[in-house]
Amino acid sequence: HDVVAALKCVCHLCANHTCETEAEGACWNSVMLIDGREEAVKSCLSPSEMKGQVFCYGSRHVSKRNCCFTDFCNNETLHLHTERSSEGSVWGQLVLAAVILVPSCLLCVAVVLGVCAVHHQRCIHSKARAQDPEELLDDQSLVSPEKGLKELICDMSTSGSGSGLPLLVQRTIARTIVLQESIGKGRFGEVWRGRWRGEDVAVKIFSSRDERSWFREAEIYQTIMLRHENILGFIAADNKDNGSWTQLWLVSEYHEYGSLFDYLNRHTVSVDDMIILALSIASGLAHLHMEIVGTQGKPAIAHRDIKSKNILVKKSGTAVIADLGLAVKHNSTTNTIDIPVNHRVGTKRYMAPEILDDTINMNNFEAFKRADIYALGLVFWELARRCSVRGLFEDFQLPYHDLVPCDPSVEDMRRVVCDQKLRPNIPNQWQSCEALRVMGKIMRECWYANSSARLTALRVKKTVSQVTVIREVKD
Ligand SMILES: *[C@@H]1O[C@H](CO)[C@@H](O)[C@H](O)[C@H]1NC(C)=O
Ligand SMILES: *[C@@H]1O[C@H](CO)[C@@H](O)[C@H](O)[C@H]1NC(C)=O
Ligand SMILES: *[C@@H]1O[C@H](CO)[C@@H](O)[C@H](O)[C@H]1NC(C)=O
Ligand SMILES: *[C@@H]1O[C@H](CO)[C@@H](O)[C@H](O)[C@H]1NC(C)=O
Repeated sequence: HDVVAALKCVCHLCANHTCETEAEGACWNSVMLIDGREEAVKSCLSPSEMKGQVFCYGSRHVSKRNCCFTDFCNNETLHLHTERSSEGSVWGQLVLAAVILVPSCLLCVAVVLGVCAVHHQRCIHSKARAQDPEELLDDQSLVSPEKGLKELICDMSTSGSGSGLPLLVQRTIARTIVLQESIGKGRFGEVWRGRWRGEDVAVKIFSSRDERSWFREAEIYQTIMLRHENILGFIAADNKDNGSWTQLWLVSEYHEYGSLFDYLNRHTVSVDDMIILALSIASGLAHLHMEIVGTQGKPAIAHRDIKSKNILVKKSGTAVIADLGLAVKHNSTTNTIDIPVNHRVGTKRYMAPEILDDTINMNNFEAFKRADIYALGLVFWELARRCSVRGLFEDFQLPYHDLVPCDPSVEDMRRVVCDQKLRPNIPNQWQSCEALRVMGKIMRECWYANSSARLTALRVKKTVSQVTVIREVKD
C-alpha cells in the first residue's frame, strides 16, 4: 500500500468504539481461540506494530488476523474454522501476501547468505527451500550446530544490525528449547527455565490475550544499541501454536540467582557487594535513559517499572535490569513518545509522588526518567539495609512496609508519599560507614518531591563509582 494517512477504525476497548491511527498505521481485525472460544479483537495498529510482522497474519490453526487500510474497514467480524475469510478480496490478499512475503524473503536471503559464508556446501540445499519460511524453521542448519548462545549473541552484536538476531534464527532457537521448570509468575504469564544446546535460558510465556505486551517487550529489547552488560540479554521472540492455543515466547539469558528481591531476602551483602550491585543497576539505568545520536543511535528509554523484582542478580555479583514491557521510547526529533501512555502503570509501591497525585507532565520525557530515579532510590534503600557492616544489618523489607498495607492502593500511597511527605527511614548507623553514608545521601536526592531536583542516573552512577575509587585508594 502507499503511504496511508491517519485512519479511523472500529475499536472494542475505546471510547465510542472508535480509534484513530497515526499515519502509516492500519485497522486491525482479529479473532483467536481462547479457552476454546472465539474472541474477536478490533483496534488500531501503530506503525511500529505494522513493522513487527506478526499482527497482520494469523498462525495456522488458532488465530486469524487482518490489517486493512480504509476507514472502518475492520468492521466485519472474523470467524475461525470457515474456509474463506470474508475479507478475501484480491486486493486484501495481495497486501497480505506482500506483508508476509517481502520481509520473509528478504530475511531468507539474508540468512542464506549468512549460512553460505560459513557452510559452503549446504548452500544449494538452503537456497532451494528458501521459498517457504515455515519449512526453513525446521532447518537446523540455520543456526550452525557448534554455536552456543554466547557466540550467537556476539555475532549479532558485531554484525552491525545492533538490534537482534534475524527473526527466523530467533524462531529456530525458540522452537528447539526444552522447558524445564516454572520459576515464577510475572505481570503477564509465567517465566520458565529452559535448555537450549546445554545452556539455561529464561522463557517468559505470555497468553494470547497479552499479545500486545509480548510484542511491546520484544520490540523494546530489539531497539538498536540497547544491548548492555547491565540490561537483561534478549535472545528471541516467537509465537507458536499447538493447535488449540497460541503461546507467545520471549527468550532471554537465564540468571540463576533470580531477582534482587529474592536475593536480598536470602542473603546479606558486604559493602563491596553492595557497591557493585548499586553501580551496575545505575549503569544499566543510565544506559537506558541515555540518547545516543547517529545512525547507529539509540533513543532515550524510560523503564516505568523499576523495582527489586525487576532487577536480576548475575553470578558475577553484578545486576541486570529486566522487564521492559512498560518502557517508553523518546523521539527527540519530534519530542514525542512512541506509544500512547497511560500514566498510572507500574507498581504502586514504587510510584513517584507526581504519578500518585497525577501532577506529572507527560509531555516532558524527562518526567518519566525522574520517576525512574525515585524508584531507583527505593531499590537502593532495600539493598543498603542488607549491607552487613561489622555483623550489623537489617532484615529485608519493601519500601514503606511500615506505613502501607501489603497490596497498597494508589490512595494509600498518595497519603503517605504526597500528603504526609514520608520517605523510607535512613538509619543513623549508616553514618558510621562511608559507603552507606553516600548511599543514604543518594537516596535522599532521588526522593525529592520536586522531581527536577532529583539526581540523574548518570550522576548516581558517578557518585557510586567514586565510592569504589575511594575504597580502592584506602586499600
Ligand atoms: C464520542 O462521540 C461524541 C458524540 O458523537 C463526540 O462528541 C466525541 O468527541 C466522541 N469521543 C471520542 C473520543 O471520539
Ligand atoms: C496446548 O497448550 C495448552 C496450554 O498450554 C494446553 O492446555 C493444551 O492441552 C495444548 N494442546 C495440545 C493439543 O497440545
Ligand atoms: C522520529 O520521528 C520522525 C518523524 O515522525 C521520524 O522520521 C524519525 O525516524 C523518528 N526517529 C526515531 C529515532 O524513531
Ligand atoms: C525544583 O528544583 C529545581 C532545581 O533544583 C529548581 O530550579 C526549582 O525552582 C524547584 N521548584 C520548586 C517548585 O521548588
